[in-house]
Amino acid sequence: MKLFVDSADVAELKALAATGLVDGVTTNPSLIAKQGGVFLDTIAEICALVDGPVSAEVASTDYETILKEGERLAAIAANVVVKLPLTWDGLKAAKHFSRIGVKTNVTLCFSAVQALMAAKAGATYVSPFIGRLDDHGADGMDLIGDIRAVFDQYAFDTEILAASVRSAAHVRDAALVGADCATLPPAVFKGLLSHPLTERGLQQFTADWAASGQTILG
Ligand code: E4P
Repeated sequence: MKLFVDSADVAELKALAATGLVDGVTTNPSLIAKQGGVFLDTIAEICALVDGPVSAEVASTDYETILKEGERLAAIAANVVVKLPLTWDGLKAAKHFSRIGVKTNVTLCFSAVQALMAAKAGATYVSPFIGRLDDHGADGMDLIGDIRAVFDQYAFDTEILAASVRSAAHVRDAALVGADCATLPPAVFKGLLSHPLTERGLQQFTADWAASGQTILG
């Protein structure tokens, strides 16, 4: 499963990318607004940091302007993925971009039927929002499983990008039900390796090694 980071914080992304374990980045208008800075410049900086796909979202909702914004975003770098809303105009744009070879991420997906429509529009990725569905009283993970079943049934190429991820448990469950990718806030990404037994075990090994008086490097 590919792991993306959901952030527009260039400094934070740089530090995380240095692990070699960041497969891509997603942003959205709220993250960009929170970060400040010039949107197109921020996306260019992120694209230079990460080899993988970088989702940059259009701000408009009408087809003609979505196309213009998407073209502008796609021109920033070869790894830009144009993020589009799950609306009729958004899917029409997804179809257009799919025809001309521009990658897309259809966002704000909350049902399997919406995901089916995004796949039919030729989206490269569809982003079901797990955490927001959980907040809404539904089960976000059930949606990932349903979309997996639908996509497998009809051999759609569209990748399932689990979004609105709130915890390592979400990452585990998304992996178990077959999400192709998940996008994680930096804090969740950093928490993926945390386990008290790992920390306790390492402390013990370090102490025992020090007591042995040996060195590996001489
Ligand atoms: C994904 O593309 C979105 O940017 C993101 O995962 C939304 O997460 P949130 O529900 O925590 O805002």
